[in-house]
Amino acid sequence: MNTTEIMQLSLEMSGFDEVPADSAIYHPGKNIKKALIGIDLDAPELFYAKDAGYDLVISHHPKGGDSTINFPKVLQRHVEMMIEHGVPKAIAEAAMRETIYDAECRAQIANYDHAPSFARHLNVAYMNIHLALDEIGRKLMASSVHKLTPTSSVNDLIKTFKADMSEFRNAKTDIDIRVGEAKNKIGRVAVAHACGTNGGYPVAKAYFDHGIDTVIYIHCEGAASRTLKDEFQKKNKNLIITGHIASDSLGINPFIAALEERGLRVTPVSGIVPQ
Ligand SMILES: [Fe+2]
Ligand SMILES: [Fe+2]
Repeated sequence: MNTTEIMQLSLEMSGFDEVPADSAIYHPGKNIKKALIGIDLDAPELFYAKDAGYDLVISHHPKGGDSTINFPKVLQRHVEMMIEHGVPKAIAEAAMRETIYDAECRAQIANYDHAPSFARHLNVAYMNIHLALDEIGRKLMASSVHKLTPTSSVNDLIKTFKADMSEFRNAKTDIDIRVGEAKNKIGRVAVAHACGTNGGYPVAKAYFDHGIDTVIYIHCEGAASRTLKDEFQKKNKNLIITGHIASDSLGINPFIAALEERGLRVTPVSGIVPQ
């Protein structure tokens, strides 16, 4: 396979028509036989890969180039997802305005060619695949939620996630209830994942204010978690945090299996939780 075919495979598996703005081929390669894949693979890992005879390095998180510059565009997915769940358009847009602005500022700050420049000098193929793999993980979580009913408890949801997805059993982190309680009913659920990053306070609030009872994020900062708890604990809302690395692994593992089916030798590193 070449790097374009590998990117295409991620699109087919996730259902996207085009390469998401947070994913890119930094240095192309063809006739790939041996790939190193990880959640964060930077310039030093490129030296390791070259030395160990890998022809391709795939990072999950963006590591420069177009995917760093254009990253803020994928945050728009939060807006689309909120609208799909019944949040009015103007409120959904307002909930993401600051986060998108901040991300645009950060993208302009970034030293976007750092790691890609080493890939070119070392002549190691290098790419990152972010949104598509997160979308694979989101769909797995959503189909698990669909087995439940609104009267199922938060505890049932966590148990079902752990039963259905071995990454949640195998990770060192646990699924966390930041707002709500294990015995609460889940009501209407939004799996707010595969949107670039978590939506923080404003997105969870928009969901809670518009008929969603349980928001699932894969990660959330302390400050946002505290504020959401102060505001929504007494309203019987639930914020469930599944764990960053476990949840990223959830989408990465099926992709590794698909590459191996196509004859590649793939080595998972940098945090990927085994299935
Ligand atoms: Fe991810
Ligand atoms: Fe991630």
